[in-house]
Amino acid sequence: MQFIRCSNLDELSKNVALIFKETITNKPNAILGLATGSSPISTYKELIEMFNNNTISFKDVTTFNLDEYVGLSEKNKHHSYRYFMNDNLFGGIDIDLKNTFFPINWDENVDLSKIDYSNYDELIDKKGGMDLLILGLGNNGHIGFNEPGSKIDSKTKLTILANSTIEANARFFENKDEVPKYAISMGINTILKAKKIILIVVGESKKEALFQLKNSISFDEKWPCTALTQHDNVFVYYI
Ligand code: F6R
Repeated sequence: MQFIRCSNLDELSKNVALIFKETITNKPNAILGLATGSSPISTYKELIEMFNNNTISFKDVTTFNLDEYVGLSEKNKHHSYRYFMNDNLFGGIDIDLKNTFFPINWDENVDLSKIDYSNYDELIDKKGGMDLLILGLGNNGHIGFNEPGSKIDSKTKLTILANSTIEANARFFENKDEVPKYAISMGINTILKAKKIILIVVGESKKEALFQLKNSISFDEKWPCTALTQHDNVFVYYI
């Protein structure tokens, strides 16, 4: 695992965007894994700029998002990660939306008992696996929505959001009660199958989780991010 300290968000985003560019230049039909949240937003802006300058094209790219909320009301539909991605990336590039996947599509009345979560992992495998996966880091060390206590062999699954995650994400909603309690997330095993992983760490609140990651040599369930110690192609970009 390589730790790359950047002096500011601009430098971090430019560096991460260059890795995307390299991946897509080498393989125009690359399979990308994508995160939402505040950490990757400026990287996505860089990618849109690269597209506008004709330095990159997503025309043959396929994407798999890490996670999606479950239980968003009609009123809060715009907080779904599908909306986030359309707003912050997909709407500004030439990707074919048919090639953009989420573990679940928004449905206010979803019947979770009818969902086969394993389909997502199977689809990723069928497409050839993720060439590059970008992750953010939760204050509690989560990656995707693999909260503390998640198993290293977990696949895409329904997850109960930790209270600290609900509190952290309340900033996007009118109040904390509107933050969904559940999400469907790639599991840790799903994440570790990506060929290359970039973890973006921005913000004081991530300090403890970053410290745990830097000082671990094996997986500790209490800090899900430490699963990344078990992968041999991980780059941690932090400020
Ligand atoms: C989002 C996701 C989460 C976030 C993490 C950090 O798709 O999987 O793990 O990456 O909660 O969020 P921000 O970047 O908002 O601090």
